[in-house]
Amino acid sequence: MKSNMSVGIIGVGTIAQIHINALKKAGQRIVALCDLDTTRCIEASDKFSLNAKIYSDCIEMLDCERLDVIHICTPHYLHANMICEGLKRDVNVLCEKPLAINEKQLVQIEKSVNISNAQLGVCFQNRFNASVLYVKDYLKDKEILSASANLIWDRGINYYAQGKWRGTWSQEGGGVMINQAIHGLDVLQWLCGMPEYVTAYTANVSLKNVIEVEDTAFGLFKMKNGGKFVVNATNAASFCFPVYYMFRTSGHTVELTADNIIIDGKFITKSDGLPIFGKEIWGVGHISLIKNFYKCLENGEKFSIGFDEGKNAVKLVLAMYRSNGQEIKI
Ligand SMILES: NC(=O)c1ccc[n+]([C@@H]2O[C@H](COP(=O)([O-])OP(=O)(O)OC[C@H]3O[C@@H](n4cnc5c(N)ncnc54)[C@H](O)[C@@H]3O)[C@@H](O)[C@H]2O)c1
Repeated sequence: MKSNMSVGIIGVGTIAQIHINALKKAGQRIVALCDLDTTRCIEASDKFSLNAKIYSDCIEMLDCERLDVIHICTPHYLHANMICEGLKRDVNVLCEKPLAINEKQLVQIEKSVNISNAQLGVCFQNRFNASVLYVKDYLKDKEILSASANLIWDRGINYYAQGKWRGTWSQEGGGVMINQAIHGLDVLQWLCGMPEYVTAYTANVSLKNVIEVEDTAFGLFKMKNGGKFVVNATNAASFCFPVYYMFRTSGHTVELTADNIIIDGKFITKSDGLPIFGKEIWGVGHISLIKNFYKCLENGEKFSIGFDEGKNAVKLVLAMYRSNGQEIKI
């Protein structure tokens, strides 16, 4: 495929700004922007000097433009249909997480993936952080016996007021787990493998009468080797702490937090003594992921986070919601 592709973006809100910036850095041409609120498109087109065509309906955009790629940056419940509309026209799709908000949508997406000549990629950008890649490589020939993710954030009333879709089962599809902690689940399952069983509890502890969905969750996952991994997640704290992962093998303990990797109590640094870069600078993971997605398209290679990889964390989140305190098969 050609190197200078025609790109359309659907949903020009908060995260789209990061996509546009990354696309500009990668030298791609953003030819169309689509948002129900077209003033957002006009503002972004001006801000990034895009001179893009503007649409309020993504079907019209897909039918009028000859696009190579669309980026889906809309609320969660819309992802599945938009993915399928792109794929059925053989337009490559890069979709924000989560791929879907229920099993039915996952089945719908899988069918479209199987009959399309185009690729689907999912934005789990933390997989491109140097620190996560370092730990992935360190653990590749070791058996992980136990692991955990501590995910402590502050998302209050003002955050949920930013969009009507937030905090609702029908449009966000859940709360802290499907929106924020899904990244942590994705990293855990990428490093430890897909677990078989989960026991989970979810609760709305601080935003009753504000959101319908959970702001806090606990999940205990049983791995195939008998080991377990644990997720603690909340949006109810009054500070956003760096995510904190731990991995235990038969002989080693690995801690991964923000820029730091600590193995058996020792900080791992680069040759210049600096920490291995993590995700402290927001948006850097997106730049790496988007560059890599386009490189794969140009070279005719399969992007590493397609449907099969992207669906795993969704399945884990949905299993947590089903569990309701009982151990269930995933
Ligand atoms: N990967 C990450 O770290 C990360 C970070 C933030 C957000 N996200 C994801 O990005 C997506 C968008 O989140 P956001 O924070 O940018 O939300 P947002 O509310 O700021 O933006 C969403 C935009 O979509 C538009 N929209 C809604 N319905 C539409 C439709 N039918 N057609 C076209 N446009 C429509 C809205 O008008 C809005 O401008 C979500 O999936 C979210 O989980 C990912």
